[in-house]
Amino acid sequence: MDIFDKCHHFTRAREAVKEGWYPYFRPIQSGPGTRVKVDGREMIMIGSNNYMGLTGHPKVVEASVAATKKYGTGCTGSRFLNGTLDIHLELEERLARFVGKEAALCFSTGFQANLGAISALVGKDDIVFVDRENHASIVDGYRLSFGKVVKYRHNDFADLERVLQLHADEDVGKMIVTDGVFSMEGTIAHIPQIVELARKYGARVYVDDAHALGVLGKRGGGSIEYWNMPDDIDLVMGTFSKSLASLGGFVAGDAVVIDYIKHHARSLIFSASMPPGAVAAVIAALEIIESEPERIERLWKNTQKMKEGFDSLGFNTGESNTPIIPIVVGEDDDCFTFWKALFDNGIFVNPAIPPAVPPHQAILRTSYMATHSDDELEYVLEMFKKIGKQLGVI
Ligand SMILES: Cc1ncc(COP(=O)(O)O)c(C=O)c1O
Repeated sequence: MDIFDKCHHFTRAREAVKEGWYPYFRPIQSGPGTRVKVDGREMIMIGSNNYMGLTGHPKVVEASVAATKKYGTGCTGSRFLNGTLDIHLELEERLARFVGKEAALCFSTGFQANLGAISALVGKDDIVFVDRENHASIVDGYRLSFGKVVKYRHNDFADLERVLQLHADEDVGKMIVTDGVFSMEGTIAHIPQIVELARKYGARVYVDDAHALGVLGKRGGGSIEYWNMPDDIDLVMGTFSKSLASLGGFVAGDAVVIDYIKHHARSLIFSASMPPGAVAAVIAALEIIESEPERIERLWKNTQKMKEGFDSLGFNTGESNTPIIPIVVGEDDDCFTFWKALFDNGIFVNPAIPPAVPPHQAILRTSYMATHSDDELEYVLEMFKKIGKQLGVI
């Protein structure tokens, strides 16, 4: 038995490449704006998380270049040792203010933020309660922890109460972890109900705001602003790889909790810190989000246009109420066929199949930016209508 046997047996992806319908790892030859270049061809991008459209903004690019010139290209060490720059601290202060918490701590990716923070907090006698549809980085965070994991049915608060009740007599540390916006179906988690149960059963609340920052709330402050619950959401996690136009992530909460995570999160302590160019890009992006609230308005205008457009064409968009609008196709093969026809017609979208979504619920995950033009969005709707009819999806 060779440990590599499984690699030889894994032929599905290679076959798909040969047959010309493999949708993943497609190289893009331009920046991630509303239009991208693929195979030398211009396409409309509706598969990015660049909600604010800031990755190519001149101020963001200039700030990143200036920081690279000043500090160099990398930090060559962890935050713990030689990898903390003055701009890391400046960013953490700004982030804490932005989400309405006492302190924040930056990690090199959002994935690492969840890994590090959750595994540091959930000790061997603790219990973490998790929504079954939480992001993979949350899953891996609690897998790395030594505590007990209790799952509840997606968005099912009766089920959450049932499992909290089951453990009500155990005098141990408890925390509920949920996405603030679910990344595949584009729904907003109902945080007030989670908070109510958390308070009733003595649990803390940890919200992953990867898709909520820059999207929810008038200022883009995420779940805390949207639900107006600065004290009830104990910890907020966020990423810089979406609205904040960069790479990295953070957790924010009470200073004493952040200090604990800072000294216990292995993905922080044993990994090099965010490079200067990435840090400066986030600071610039935050400044733009704060000074140009009309971007958020535009994002929601585009979202409404697309949601109404798809629904009136007869597509199944699930319960989406954010700029992430999934088009439920069903079987994987049908989803890939739809994806390929869109791709051939100049539309870049992401197909998602199980385990990213439940079985037989393959989707085309569409997502929108503040910077999409009406013409671009109308072309997208027109193509979905044409291809959706041809394939019998509508
Ligand atoms: C809900 C959620 N949490 C965490 C992450 C990880 O963020 P990052 O891309 O910064 O690693 C993502 C990104 O896909 C996400 O969607």
